[in-house]
Amino acid sequence: MVVVMKNNLILLDEKGRRSDGRRWNELRPVNMAVGILERADGSAIVETGKTKVLAAVYGPKEMYPKHLAMPDRAILRVAYRMASFSVEERKKPHPSRREIELSKVIKEALEPAVILEEFPRTVIDVYVLVLQADGGTRVASINAASLALADAGIPMKGLVTAIAVGRLGNQVIVDLNDLEDKYGDADMPIAYIPSTGEITLFQMDGTMPPDMFNKCLEVAIETLNKMHEFQKEALKSKYLTSKKKTNS
Ligand code: CDP
Repeated sequence: MVVVMKNNLILLDEKGRRSDGRRWNELRPVNMAVGILERADGSAIVETGKTKVLAAVYGPKEMYPKHLAMPDRAILRVAYRMASFSVEERKKPHPSRREIELSKVIKEALEPAVILEEFPRTVIDVYVLVLQADGGTRVASINAASLALADAGIPMKGLVTAIAVGRLGNQVIVDLNDLEDKYGDADMPIAYIPSTGEITLFQMDGTMPPDMFNKCLEVAIETLNKMHEFQKEALKSKYLTSKKKTNS
């Protein structure tokens, strides 16, 4: 196995282990739960390793100011924010350019799945708060936001599932941590709607040789399907718990 090193850090060792001990196709421990905030119409928490993201959905509700309302559909409004304590170096509390850009990217990844035509003149607010960041916060945000939308009972074509894949030398890797995101050779966040096969987000930072691109995409779809199972389990477990409560 070819060792991959950057800035004196071993990103991939001779046994094919990554900086956190994972194999190339291994996810970090995943934890997902829905319905965790009483006040929100829908909510979810998603943890992938040390990355922790909370999502809350409010709406559909009347749009104010009214002139921003669309006569034929609802507006999806997404705010992605990082808590000041979520990263190593304190993040200034006001929204950064990165947070504004990620809010747009996440909104565009979710929009194709939501049946906005059912709620003309309204707004659906999605708030995403990164509690702890260790790479992959945009994909964790998409997973959490789509669960929170489902928890709020918003009609959708299907859940939106997201994952980042990437490259360390000539090795494809899945679910990049912060080190791999910063020092790896490529980071490719992808979101898709498993029930329709539509890809709703596709970004790439770094470089990818053409012969590795197809492998990356193939691995991404396999990993996305695994993440989708975790999302379905999180939704199911809320209903199983509330059924138990009603029976007792
Ligand atoms: O989080 P994601 O990979 O979607 O987005 P990114 O812009 O590629 O950021 C990669 C990682 O850099 C984040 O997940 C954080 O761990 C870290 N980061 C940070 O330490 N401080 C910031 N102000 C922003 C990001």
